[in-house]
Amino acid sequence: MYTSKTADLKHDSPKNCKILELPKIHDPRGNLTFIEETNHVPFKIKRIYYLYDVPGGESRGGHAHKELEQFIIAANGSFDVILDDGKTKQVYQLNRSYYGLYVPRMVWRELDNFSSGSVCLVLASEPYEEEDYIRDFDEFKKRVMK
Ligand code: TYD
Repeated sequence: MYTSKTADLKHDSPKNCKILELPKIHDPRGNLTFIEETNHVPFKIKRIYYLYDVPGGESRGGHAHKELEQFIIAANGSFDVILDDGKTKQVYQLNRSYYGLYVPRMVWRELDNFSSGSVCLVLASEPYEEEDYIRDFDEFKKRVMK
């Protein structure tokens, strides 16, 4: 199961952020999960990338996206995703490969607490574009307060 821990501020999720359960085919030979963009992810998948070999104590992310939507899966191991829409902040612990976390546009994200050997698989709605990033938290806050 995934767990969510309230970091501070409010007890609900940041706007439109949600955990989605994926199909899981149980099999004594090993389990299988699949993702179809029209059925399981609320956007057209244009890019896939993954984080791996993350050294203990390191964190990733630390930005928001102007337009990009993402779906984040702990394909192996576990890590925490801290989401903040400017009003509500919440920590999601991902530790099962059949759950994904949907992150819409304009949500600040940080990923930390990676377990050894963990793999963070990310499905994205657009190709990589540096211009879509907001890497300054104050700028992010200014934009969401407008
Ligand atoms: P970044 O998205 O900042 O990493 P994270 O949020 O996971 O910590 O990306 C790190 C670097 O990798 C940055 O220089 C851009 C490059 N990059 C690509 O070239 N293509 C991609 O699809 C991604 C996600 C990153």
